[in-house]
Amino acid sequence: MRMVDVIARKRDGEALSPQEIAFFVEGYTRGDIPDYQAAALCMALFWRGMTDEETVCLTDCMARSGDRLDLSALGDATVDKHSTGGVGDKTTLIVAPLAASLGCKVPKMSGRGLGHTGGTVDKLEAIPGYRTSLSPEAFIDQVNRVGVAVIGQTGNLAPADKKLYALRDVTATVDSIPLITASIMSKKLAAGARSIVLDVKVGSGAFMQTEQQALALAEAMVRIGKGCGRRMAAVLTDMDAPLGHAIGNALEVAEAVAVLRGEMQGDLAEVCVALAAQMVALARGLAPEQAQLQVRQALADGSAYAKMKEWIAAQGGDPTALERPDGLPAATHRLPVVASGEGYVAGVNARQLGTAAALLGAGRATKEEAIDPAAGIILHKKPGDRVAAGDVLCTLHTNRPQTADAARALCLQAVTLADEPPAPRPLIHTILR
Ligand code: URA
Repeated sequence: MRMVDVIARKRDGEALSPQEIAFFVEGYTRGDIPDYQAAALCMALFWRGMTDEETVCLTDCMARSGDRLDLSALGDATVDKHSTGGVGDKTTLIVAPLAASLGCKVPKMSGRGLGHTGGTVDKLEAIPGYRTSLSPEAFIDQVNRVGVAVIGQTGNLAPADKKLYALRDVTATVDSIPLITASIMSKKLAAGARSIVLDVKVGSGAFMQTEQQALALAEAMVRIGKGCGRRMAAVLTDMDAPLGHAIGNALEVAEAVAVLRGEMQGDLAEVCVALAAQMVALARGLAPEQAQLQVRQALADGSAYAKMKEWIAAQGGDPTALERPDGLPAATHRLPVVASGEGYVAGVNARQLGTAAALLGAGRATKEEAIDPAAGIILHKKPGDRVAAGDVLCTLHTNRPQTADAARALCLQAVTLADEPPAPRPLIHTILR
């Protein structure tokens, strides 16, 4: 078989055979197929799409490209959660201990941020001492004892996705439903949990900008997960404005703690309740409404926060750092971004704020770049809020004051004002089970 023929067939809109898909995934993972041919195939896939059979086959080949975790020792209540990526999305820090406090087993492998989106592993590394790498045995043992462990993706889990995602990121082929489906589901299938809850983001800060695209992506992922014998749910959540108020690693940890301590209501808490309820419902076989009542109770009575401290301590982190004012890294410069006009906040462009936070040091332009855990943005005004001239729209936190002008300009572009309040957008668009 020749790779050039596989590319030509997809370019001409034909469906690839399972043998052709396996030839590509195995050859590219081994390094026999060069990046330029893989990039040409990704672009052909982007334009021509894939049938359901092709997507299932691609997902399966990618899931089998490396190690697969055997979680059978953890029983039937294992549950994983995956977000399609967003700005200010610290939901894992909240829902993982929340679900664990209600009897779920949460073995979670998370990613780092890239571009305008954040990553859970970077956020956790803002906690002094926290280890994001554990051996498979230590990982499973911790989930057994504590109910939750969150680590970075182990070296050889779905290596085909690792290579392909990096390639897609620089060849403008990320936003393709079959490619995102195979990327996310191959990792989740290899990671082994019996139940999987997908948080599919919709809006300006998401890869899927319209509800129709997000629904198509969610349906494809749920179909594939069920086809592979997993219990699946997908929640379409809004990512037009950032989630919560904090963007940036240590700032987001502090915000997650505030939600777990019951000190913060609003969009972040509501999205977390919806996701955690689906996790608990799937893993423990409860009706979603009953699971939701238990989730709210675990937030209100402090058991979810107690579980967070137990989890952080189990992974070498200092749980007292979550409560001391100087416990988490803090930036030396805090610079206000001030409104020059007045009105209602009509929109807050999440992608622009994510880019501004990355400029301040919270994200990377390349995978290798070091990030500053203290850097980020606190957004004080959200869609629908009233603003007067001179009000502080957001505060920039940075140790690189030379980046502040560019970040401030992006923030001012991101927050649009209007004479009338905007029509409210739903926070939870749809739930698929
Ligand atoms: N998240 C992933 O893991 N893969 C994608 O392709 C997009 C978002």
